[in-house]
Amino acid sequence: MGIVSGKGGVGKTTFAVNLAIALSRFGKKVLIIDCNISTPHVAYYLGAESYSINLSNIFKGEVDVKFAPLSHHGVMFIPASEDLKDMDIDFEKLNTYVSKLDKKNTFDFIFLDSAPGLGDEAVSVLKTAKEILFITTPTVPNITDMVRCAEFLSNLEHKEMRNM
Ligand SMILES: Nc1ncnc2c1ncn2[C@@H]1O[C@H](COP(=O)(O)OP(=O)(O)O)[C@@H](O)[C@H]1O
Ligand SMILES: [Mg+2]
Repeated sequence: MGIVSGKGGVGKTTFAVNLAIALSRFGKKVLIIDCNISTPHVAYYLGAESYSINLSNIFKGEVDVKFAPLSHHGVMFIPASEDLKDMDIDFEKLNTYVSKLDKKNTFDFIFLDSAPGLGDEAVSVLKTAKEILFITTPTVPNITDMVRCAEFLSNLEHKEMRNM
């Protein structure tokens, strides 16, 4: 499931991490992938201080997802690299990668924590996730941006959408 908003700072990562922790307490296997390459925060929000892999390593084939770190909250996560050199990531690979993971059936849920806006990184989540969950706060700019994203998505293809 993609966690998307349009606008930044509305609570996507907080929501993704909290829902993932709650589900893991119900015994579900959850993976969060930090798809916000520009400003990654998933590892920080999970309280993970050190980790040896990131999305960039995985896309380059340098490491396998089975080495994805497990946070002390019981949630597996793939952080985005904090190295600016890794910003040239090939976002097209997200779709192939997540499809591969889906087929393996290792996880009950895979959350894709999106970047805001409609740049390549956010669009890769819109294209990849089977379900999109929009997060917003009740201000005109934030709702306008969310609606823009939803319109963009409906132009891509039909997806199930849940607004909260
Ligand atoms: N439900 C909420 N109520 C109050 N503050 C929140 C809530 N969700 C998130 N925040 C705060 O809003 C800020 C942005 O949240 P974050 O999850 O990083 O947003 P995003 O991922 O959309 O950029 C953080 O300081 C976070 O603690
Ligand atoms: Mg975020």
